[in-house]
Amino acid sequence: MCGIVGFTGQQNAAPILLDGLKKLEYRGYDSAGIAVMCDAQISVNKVTGRIANLCERTKDGEAVPGTVGIGHTRWATHGAPTEENAHPHLSNDGRFAVVHNGIIENYIALREKLIKDGYHFDSETDTEVIVHLVERYYKGDMLEALIKTTNKLQGSYALGVICSEEPGKIYAAREASPLIIGVGADENYFASDVTALVNHTRNVIYLEDGEFAELSPDAVHVYDCLGKPVDKKVTRVLWDVQAAEKGGYEHFMLKEIMEQPAAVKATIAPRVKDGKIVFEELGITLPQLKKIRKIVITACGSAYYAGCAGKYAIEHLSKIPVEVELASELRYSDPLIDEHTLLVVISQSGETADTIAAMKECKARGAKSLAIVNVVGSTVAKLADYTVYTWAGPEIAVATTKGYTTQVTVLYMLALYFADMLDRVDDYSIRLKAIESLPRKIQQAIDINSHVQYLAQKYHGSKSLFFIGRNTDYATALEGSLKMKEISYLHAEAYAAGELKHGTIALIEDHQPVIALCCNPMIMEKTLSNIVEVKSRGAEVLALTFKNNQKILSVADDFMFIPDIDALFSAVIEIVPLQLLAYYVAKENGCDIDKPKNLAKSVTVE
Ligand code: G6P
Repeated sequence: MCGIVGFTGQQNAAPILLDGLKKLEYRGYDSAGIAVMCDAQISVNKVTGRIANLCERTKDGEAVPGTVGIGHTRWATHGAPTEENAHPHLSNDGRFAVVHNGIIENYIALREKLIKDGYHFDSETDTEVIVHLVERYYKGDMLEALIKTTNKLQGSYALGVICSEEPGKIYAAREASPLIIGVGADENYFASDVTALVNHTRNVIYLEDGEFAELSPDAVHVYDCLGKPVDKKVTRVLWDVQAAEKGGYEHFMLKEIMEQPAAVKATIAPRVKDGKIVFEELGITLPQLKKIRKIVITACGSAYYAGCAGKYAIEHLSKIPVEVELASELRYSDPLIDEHTLLVVISQSGETADTIAAMKECKARGAKSLAIVNVVGSTVAKLADYTVYTWAGPEIAVATTKGYTTQVTVLYMLALYFADMLDRVDDYSIRLKAIESLPRKIQQAIDINSHVQYLAQKYHGSKSLFFIGRNTDYATALEGSLKMKEISYLHAEAYAAGELKHGTIALIEDHQPVIALCCNPMIMEKTLSNIVEVKSRGAEVLALTFKNNQKILSVADDFMFIPDIDALFSAVIEIVPLQLLAYYVAKENGCDIDKPKNLAKSVTVE
């Protein structure tokens, strides 16, 4: 939801903090701030709006002296996006500054108590209680003050703290919000995400829940919740620095759409050996697999739609029943889940609060969990019994593209892998070849849809757009319409085409755009009838189908195309023109494509 950074070293801290915040801006972008320490004084600069405003205010950090500091980019939860509510927050005596990502659930009670005890509050945030508690408990030992403070907190936090009496030091604490330490030469860092670190160092330490860190320019010390030192492993980040840069593209989203052939290849290639799918990270044996009565997939947003798309392949190939549940619903649904359920958790970030909560609920009921995650070392990855990384590389645009396609690809591979283990598939090699062809076909889908930017000129002014399809086409329609809504702000709805006549068709009138997905030969004729139905009520139909599909070509008004592909695995290809359409419509409408309003990439609060 929010992003935090910290730096201690020999260089000026402010420009480094600002650079880190720019990399984290996707996590929240309604206000930002930095606190820098110089000669035992803490100076704070805060702005509303984007990091660019903070750069302007501080002359790209040059106007702020000091080699130690912390920074924050905010996505407001408690209190409006104002300067007062922006982090860092200062203690009443000005000796401490705090940045926080997460939510302090018991902040109202803590706030009332602190006010009674004479502390005054400058903001409406939940975070501000932390800095006052630190001031209360500090008696010359920051670790002790932090342990006492966090003992009072309920909820989630990644914290960064500086103290004017602790020169050269930055402190961090973590509970259920990501925090990574960057180990440099004569300088050290922390951040919510490795993308803020890779420009400076590739050596990182993943802080665990309940741990604290004390960083000075030449040392990193990590402690457990009792203050005992913990030996931590330094991990090398393998991501290419370039991968977190725009690399000549106008937007990260377009770059990430274009990266999909390579990303999906990176998902598939390491897991195919000698003509067989190999999941070395899965320890599921045949007797264990045979005991699984159902698979429950849970996730939020696009990851949930990835589950909807993957369900068809898993059920068709492995014959294991699959339920796909929104994590925010599953967690409170008293689910019928036990040790005979395989829980598949999908999350690009691995930090989505609802997804984590649903996962914990199902694990407590005895389900084994398999996580499909992009971010290495994330909470979901750590909680899972088995973790399959998608290897999509850093995804910066808030609207996911390669995150989604790589997730669906893993589901296809699991479908075929389980089917083979259970001896339920007789066209294994043909299916595997189809999966292996996905990167090439995604590239073709990009190449044959260059005209989509012109279609966007026709459709960008629409009041609303309907996406229709059946079966795998319907699953893709759901994700296609979400892409359109989230970045172009147009009202877009996906309907199972067969459901139109049960109500929605009442909304079809002259010139109503309908985007019809017709990529599944098995039910093509049925969708065709739906196209005719809406056409006869005046709709303008933009069809997504195969290039040579004469039947559709003769009825629709406009077209997007996909290359021939096994219909069971088509979602990964079909979504590409829909991503491009959403992108170009948003561009026509002058929207902030990489950072859509009101959204955050990683939703670490409920
Ligand atoms: C947010 C993002 C979506 C994403 C969803 C789930 O809403 O804006 O793009 O699909 O969270 O995120 P996850 O990291 O769990 O896949």
